[in-house]
Amino acid sequence: MNQKAVTAIIVGAGHRAMIYASLADRNPELLKIVGVADPNPLRRRMVREKYGFSEDMCFESAQELATKGKLADAIINGTMDHQHIETAIPLLECGYDMLLEKPFAMNEKEAMELVACAEKNHSKVMICHVLRYAPFYYSIKERIARGDIGEVINIQQVEHVSYHHMSIGYVRGKWANSQKCHSTMLLAKSCHDMDIMMWMMSDTKPVQVSSFGGRYQFVPENAPEGAGTVCMKDCPYVDTCLYSSKRLYLDHPKRWAFYVWDALEHIDNPTDEDRIALLKSDSPYGRCIYKCDNDVVDRQSVVVNFASGATGSFNMIGGAASSMRRIHIIGTKGEIFGELEESKYTVRMINPSPDAKNGEHDVEVVDLNITGDMTGAFGGHGGGDGRLALDFVNYVRGGEASLACTSIFDSLAGHLAVYKADQSRENGGVPVSLFDDCFVSGSKE
Ligand SMILES: NC(=O)c1ccc[n+]([C@@H]2O[C@H](COP(=O)([O-])OP(=O)(O)OC[C@H]3O[C@@H](n4cnc5c(N)ncnc54)[C@H](O)[C@@H]3O)[C@@H](O)[C@H]2O)c1
Repeated sequence: MNQKAVTAIIVGAGHRAMIYASLADRNPELLKIVGVADPNPLRRRMVREKYGFSEDMCFESAQELATKGKLADAIINGTMDHQHIETAIPLLECGYDMLLEKPFAMNEKEAMELVACAEKNHSKVMICHVLRYAPFYYSIKERIARGDIGEVINIQQVEHVSYHHMSIGYVRGKWANSQKCHSTMLLAKSCHDMDIMMWMMSDTKPVQVSSFGGRYQFVPENAPEGAGTVCMKDCPYVDTCLYSSKRLYLDHPKRWAFYVWDALEHIDNPTDEDRIALLKSDSPYGRCIYKCDNDVVDRQSVVVNFASGATGSFNMIGGAASSMRRIHIIGTKGEIFGELEESKYTVRMINPSPDAKNGEHDVEVVDLNITGDMTGAFGGHGGGDGRLALDFVNYVRGGEASLACTSIFDSLAGHLAVYKADQSRENGGVPVSLFDDCFVSGSKE
């Protein structure tokens, strides 16, 4: 395995790319940031000053960078969802390996195009399915792969999106309107969960998907009588509404700061007055929650039929009191269940013998002990963010691929299941088949 630090260029120096790049701050012997491509001059300057490279390694776009040939080992691509194809393909053609944000493509056609490009160029493309790296899911996957609970019969997953997360991302924010962001909510938010399902079920293949969902809560009809259009400007419910921009953002200025205060990026230390002025202006985050241009679902259910005969279900519910991801996997010998946020899971094994702990099964509780470490470099996504960046470096340096390593080939099944589920939802839940020939036999090499 190559022992040199991987050199990387950041493409799309936004919130996500900078999280992965921060591995270079902690472990300069593993990762070195040597350039940036971003149309935003403030972001280019910020990255250049932080990592200390020269102006000639700053580019205005991925496309401009691609005209220069290969200047580093890898790209950290943190552009927005619908830009992944147009930014990734020219850079893969130059010969770069790539850490690429999810969702890697907006539809099946684009997904196949990118997969074919990665195959043709023998590129190592890793998709940022950070949840696979959360010790909670990783440990469960190890148990499933070892066959601890026998053959899997059924997998159930639930994702609750908290009221403030729903509001910032999917009602007021960047992923609220599918015409603008080109993504559905299942694709933007829950492609992680569908990926986890396909990963846990990697011994078989999904063959049919059915789905229901829609907008329920965040619609104009639900606005209280006399509600305004901009919370802090003209709404009598500004101090009482659960979704008031004053209560969600001004009273919690650090929460989701990279989204809500994004437009104040040019000011060094924004004051409360700056923030109030923003929320009273045309900021999308100042709008009445019931009067936005959101068209994505606020709840969706997906049912999957696997080739082995196993079944799976996933329920996403937006607007819950707190965020929560739960998984329950039932096998022929036992079952595993737990909640990501607790970083703890339970294994129940069938035991018909009279000395079984409670007369029918044995119980083991596995505490991964990372509660309280859910944010920050290693903690984001249940401890997944930092671990994924480490594994990418290992992958590029030629180390053995980890169990979690999400090469683009491994990520395809989850993305396809999402596209088909949304197709089913748009057609009233009619089951949609996943075609066998959609699966690429690509390896992790
Ligand atoms: N893995 C996860 O859990 C997770 C979580 C949140 C978001 N995401 C995904 O991460 C991606 C980025 O989200 P974000 O919030 O960091 O975005 P962002 O808007 O903060 O950053 C995107 C950056 O790309 C730049 N850009 C635009 N066009 C470009 C081009 N042609 N070449 C180079 N740069 C260009 C923009 O100027 C911007 O700085 C999205 O796809 C999002 O869905 C993933």
